[in-house]
Amino acid sequence: MQHTPPGHLRLALVTGAGGGMGTQICQRLARDGYRVISCDISADRARAAVKDLDGSHFWRAFDVSDEDQVDQTFNAIEKDLGSITAVVCAAGLLLFQPDGERPLIKTTSLDLWERSMSVNARGVFLCARAYIRHREARPVENGRFITFSSVAAQLGGYRSSASYIASKAAVLGLTKAMAREVSHMGITVNNIAPGLIDTEMLRSTVTSSGALQAAAEAIPLGRIGTSDEVAAAVGFLASPEAGYITGSVIDVNGGYRMQ
Ligand SMILES: NC(=O)c1ccc[n+]([C@@H]2O[C@H](COP(=O)([O-])OP(=O)(O)OC[C@H]3O[C@@H](n4cnc5c(N)ncnc54)[C@H](O)[C@@H]3O)[C@@H](O)[C@H]2O)c1
Repeated sequence: MQHTPPGHLRLALVTGAGGGMGTQICQRLARDGYRVISCDISADRARAAVKDLDGSHFWRAFDVSDEDQVDQTFNAIEKDLGSITAVVCAAGLLLFQPDGERPLIKTTSLDLWERSMSVNARGVFLCARAYIRHREARPVENGRFITFSSVAAQLGGYRSSASYIASKAAVLGLTKAMAREVSHMGITVNNIAPGLIDTEMLRSTVTSSGALQAAAEAIPLGRIGTSDEVAAAVGFLASPEAGYITGSVIDVNGGYRMQ
């Protein structure tokens, strides 16, 4: 039995919604007919992501790496707002050293390693587990789970850190494992692997004004990507039309890495 009645607004939960991509994803999914729940560790950022949308959208503040916060947030949303159809896990953390340099493995502290893994990998696992438990109890039509890795995980990374690369590689594996586990429920699970996208995260890696221009020149399309180009890929994966795509990775990278 499907819980979501025909014509009922489908719910989409977006983590990292206050970030450059997350905010565009909220707006895109709202335009596509989803009722959006904008989520971020920062309440201000979560609220800001939906402030320009009409009043039918929501925001919640929680830390994706905290088991209790994830479970309690999913439980409360399912009880108060209804079944979540789509989850987009865009929350992410790229940690640098205090001097602004990217940490090499030999200088990576255990604390930095654990913090990267806890947000980027454990956070996706916790959201996946909560979503699966609720969908087993209350199935939905066209269920969607969308994760975020990075071209850094695919190439070994030039600008990021080993802990970031490893955590995003874990997400690629988790995406495939989950795609198999939930296929019997008609839920698709896919990954977006952005290249260089103009957000706060990318700018935090830039050490000189010419660095972004130099990076852009190494990209076949000759420019840095935009958040709305990533949101467009998410919008497609979250749509009913993408129902036969699962366990896949969509590269949104201007040709930076071609398979
Ligand atoms: N910008 C890029 O070039 C790029 C490239 C490849 C992959 N990515 C990935 O794409 C996703 C979106 O990136 P972005 O550039 O929009 O990042 P961003 O830094 O602009 O936003 C990330 C958001 O995640 C939130 N967040 C951080 N820790 C959290 C936690 N513990 N719980 C909940 N929310 C938390 C932050 O508050 C922030 O609003 C991330 O997963 C990132 O790793 C980004």
